[in-house]
Amino acid sequence: MPDTHPPAQCISTDQIFFASSALIEARERREDARDRLLRIVDSGKYQAWYNGGTMELRPFAPASDVGSGVLEELGLVKDGQLRVKINLVGESLMLTDGVWVDSDIRVFPFSDESAAISKYCCRRNLLERADLVIDLATGSGHNLAWFRRDVRGVGMDINPRALSYFHLNNVINGLSNRTGVLNDIRRGISNIVDGADTPNILILGNLPFGLAPTQRTLPFTSNGGETGVDLQGAALAAIAAFMRTKFGARARAVLLGYSVGNSTDGQWQVLDLARAMLPEHELGFSILDDEGLTRVDGRRVLANPSPVRMALQAAGACRLYHQDTDRAQALYASLSDRLVSRGFSDLAYVVLEIGPVQRVLESGRQSVDS
Ligand SMILES: C[S@@+](CC[C@H](N)C(=O)[O-])C[C@H]1O[C@@H](n2cnc3c(N)ncnc32)[C@H](O)[C@@H]1O
Repeated sequence: MPDTHPPAQCISTDQIFFASSALIEARERREDARDRLLRIVDSGKYQAWYNGGTMELRPFAPASDVGSGVLEELGLVKDGQLRVKINLVGESLMLTDGVWVDSDIRVFPFSDESAAISKYCCRRNLLERADLVIDLATGSGHNLAWFRRDVRGVGMDINPRALSYFHLNNVINGLSNRTGVLNDIRRGISNIVDGADTPNILILGNLPFGLAPTQRTLPFTSNGGETGVDLQGAALAAIAAFMRTKFGARARAVLLGYSVGNSTDGQWQVLDLARAMLPEHELGFSILDDEGLTRVDGRRVLANPSPVRMALQAAGACRLYHQDTDRAQALYASLSDRLVSRGFSDLAYVVLEIGPVQRVLESGRQSVDS
């Protein structure tokens, strides 16, 4: 059994689909639903729940006058409980799963990774420049929600439940030029994407990148294998192949993830992997030293980068991911031993930027202009 908490209220994937079908042609109901969701997010009680660490192990209970009516009819509220988590991303209300949902099917609950991607893209002027954004592992669509409404977006994911939230979020936020595509990045970037008339294609990705001591220690959305690199490597291979296509040659990509490595030598596994697949002059590498490293009970803690032992000990203490934190910390301690014996003494939260005319940075949040 995965290391999860006992089941609480879980909305079915069918019900998420029914909710978007019920709203798509019904403007008044849509506005009513949106208004109620906004009132929930704005309430002090929701903010306390949202920022309350382990409070989000259980669904939020909205005030009965707000949580009734259309939200109950749509199945978003049942027995007084809000069965989804709401993240506010820019002006968009993003519905997704909470951590109480079974970790084998759960859609990614947090929007902090997308905020880090957006901040990086802003710094590099990539947010403004993009005409088409392809999100390789979109979940409920957080990464695309940071872009202007007129930007065309294609969100891919292997999890159909993620795509049902993605669709519902497009309906609730009135976004008509965003398309969800079922795709396994290990098989490349779906050829459904047509970038023929698109000068500025931006590819984004935050694939699961958590370091997993065993196959069952982390939820499916975060499990990146022992060094966190398994799906980041698949994404790099997919991007390298896409960039060899006719319109892929113009694309830029921003991949967020963890990398094990050695900060004294400036050697990072993810960067080495990228160098093996892509020309050096097309690679940029940044350690996000203005972001916290490990997410513990919903908040990022520790300096970035940090010693891998310290980072993994903190990871094992996260009560949102581990019911038995002593067991998780023991598993992470033996993973740390294995990593250190392979020369990986540190862990960093990093961005790889891939595209025309880049150069590799040693570290630091400042990127070069191309
Ligand atoms: C860390 S979550 C990020 C989700 C979203 N971008 C966000 O920030 O909310 C990783 C996502 O990768 C997806 N995923 C896992 N394996 C995948 C694969 N082989 N191909 C495509 N997506 C995958 C998961 O379903 C999940 O939505």
